[in-house]
Order: sequence, then structure tokens, then C-alpha cells
Amino acid sequence: MNREDFEILGTGIIYFDNGATTLKPKVLAEATSDYYNYYSSNAHRGDYTLSIKASEEYENTRQLVKTLINAKEVNEIAFTSGSTDSLNKIIFGFFKDYLTTNDEVLITKTEHAANVLPWFELKDQIGIKVKYISLTEDHKVTLENVINAITPNTKVISLAHITNVVGDIRPIKEIIKYAHKHNILVLIDGAQSVPHMKVDVQDLDIDFLVFSAHKMCGPTGVGIIYGKKELLKDIKPIIFGGGMNAEFDSSFHKVYKEMPERLEGGTPNVAGVIGFGYVLKYLQNIGFDKIHEKELELKNYLISRLKEISQITIYNEFSESGVVIINYDGIFAQDLSIYLDKYNICTRAGNHCAKMTKDELHIKNTCRISLYFYNTKEEIDRLIEVLKNPNIKNEII
Ligand code: ALA
Repeated sequence: MNREDFEILGTGIIYFDNGATTLKPKVLAEATSDYYNYYSSNAHRGDYTLSIKASEEYENTRQLVKTLINAKEVNEIAFTSGSTDSLNKIIFGFFKDYLTTNDEVLITKTEHAANVLPWFELKDQIGIKVKYISLTEDHKVTLENVINAITPNTKVISLAHITNVVGDIRPIKEIIKYAHKHNILVLIDGAQSVPHMKVDVQDLDIDFLVFSAHKMCGPTGVGIIYGKKELLKDIKPIIFGGGMNAEFDSSFHKVYKEMPERLEGGTPNVAGVIGFGYVLKYLQNIGFDKIHEKELELKNYLISRLKEISQITIYNEFSESGVVIINYDGIFAQDLSIYLDKYNICTRAGNHCAKMTKDELHIKNTCRISLYFYNTKEEIDRLIEVLKNPNIKNEII
């Protein structure tokens, strides 16, 4: 689907590392090159035509993000450098003040490092407790397990919508509904979900959502924070400088701007944000329902074909996204990835930045195949052919 829009696919590579970052359509290079060539200037800082155009294009992307996730207001959206940056800004800018000693935060052992380490830091800094929701045998989160983990001290539930290793889709609507009845706020890491399916923050009633542009055909260095207006109004910036202050003087008086500027101190990634806007229009034209449908079709095909190879273990057959993790008997995951690369097949091996996942899977390293809408059954056939190579072990040595 839409393969002609991706110049790099013409080189013959088979790209199965979309969980790490996706390929970029021509429209991204065109939009950013247009900015650099014809209206390169800072946004929100100039009273001349070029800067006004850059500011308008930049703000237009914010509108498109609002539409994408169905936020109520455009000021509920701030640009950051990526999901990690967004999570840190929310956790240290909002939750560090909101939480107090012995308050409990619920996460799982299959979270990405960016949704673990900031909480560990708060544990050390202000004495919160970080607790883990038990997972099912298939490594999934259920509402029942969330309820079992909640205590009167639970104040936050912080979860990936889709995990980057297991690829399970969490039932966040039910979890959020239950959490809100018990005055618990919910932070959702949408890095692996927003690129692949419709995520409606009002329908799901999400308090905070983060995601990254580069995992959805956009540029690296652009991330998004969404937060409900009433929560974001009290967020403290953790980056101080130009653009985020309303006034300051030599007697140490200072006033910071309202959202979203208060979270966008310093010159932002103007080219990246503008380019992302064009990518969003591109993706909306394809349609997120279509994207999700295509990925599931490919994923089911991939699973059925992998099952033809007795030496392959699949760890997440029953997850609902386009992420599949495997190992090949007697081959170290990284060696398998390097072997596949010899055939121009890109995968990721290791613990995938989610180092506690090994406690759930009982295996430290896996080879991950993560799909996007431009992948094809023919590419999967080629992967299977290469994995069926009777000389596979000799080629690795
Ligand atoms: N979080 C990214 C991944 O899963 C980098 O590969």
C-alpha cells in the first residue's frame, strides 16, 4: 500500500523495524526542503513575512494534531523532541508536585524505559511507590488485574497503549473509566498506538498522552504532549528560556506563559514540526482504519508463515498489533538480525529498551519484526524463505 511514496523502498530493502522508527514518505522531504529553501526562519519570533509563514505552518501542525487525536482545544498540545521528552516533562513538570511520599504509581514490567525510569527517579526524589500490575500468561493487562493492583494510595496509572515488545493493546478505555471513579489519573504512552490506529482522547478520556512523529512517517526530533486543559494549566516547565516566559526582570521576578508556549522553551524543531503537518495530512488521506486493518492482515499472515518453521519460537502470537517477537533455536537474537540484514531485511534484536520485559517473557533477547502499512506479503514470503535457508547456522558462524 502506497509503496511508491517511499523512495527508500526502491532500493530493495525490506523494512521490518517500524517499532523503532518508520520510513519517511517523499512528502516529508519535500515539505522540510521547502521550508529550508524558501522560508527558513524562526517561528513566533519575527514580524516579517517569512517568520509569519513559518509560525502559521507550525501552528497548522498543532491544529492537525488536535484533529488527529480529537483534543478539545489546540492549547492542550505541546511539541517536544519525542515521547521520552514528553514523558519526562509530564512526570517531572506535573506529577512531581502532584504526588507525595507513599503515593502509588502503577506501571507494568513490559513498559518502555521512558515510562519506567522517570518514575524510579520520583521514587528516589520524593518517596513515591512504583508498583507493577500483574500480567496474564499472554503478557496482557486486564481490567481485573488493574483493579487488584489498586490500593487507596494509588494516584496514577501509567501505561503504554500498545507495548513496543509484546505488542499487546491495553484496554485503556475501561481502565481509565475505573481509574477516574477512584480519582486516579492515567498517563498513556501512545508511541506505538497513535501511528497505527485511531486514538480519540475525548472518547477514551485520557488525562495525558504522548507520542512521537518519527514512528508515524514523520521526522525524528518531534514529539507530542497532550494533556487535559485543567491539568496542563498547572504544569511546571522543566526547560527555561526564550519563548516560554511572559516577563522577567533583574529583581528575579518572572512569569511564564500559558500552554502551550510554557512547555516549548527555546527554538523548537520548526522544520520537523512543519514537515510532520504534511505527513499527518498524508496519513489522514490513507486513513487510520485502513492502516490498522492492513497491519493486522500482514501480522496474521506473518504468524501463519512463521509457524511453518519448527525452529522458530513466537512469543506474542496473540497480541493485536503488527509487532512480532521471535527467536530461532540455537541462534542468538542479534546474530539472527545480522544474518537477516545480509539479505536486506531490517529487524531489531535485543531487549528493545524494555529491560524488565524479560521478567515476563523469561527470555532476555528477541528478534522483533514490526510492520507498517507499506509492508507486503511478498516481503514476508522473502523473510520466510531466508529463515528456511538450510545453511542458516553456517552463514551465521
Ligand atoms: N522505542 C523504540 C523501539 O521500540 C526505539 O524500538
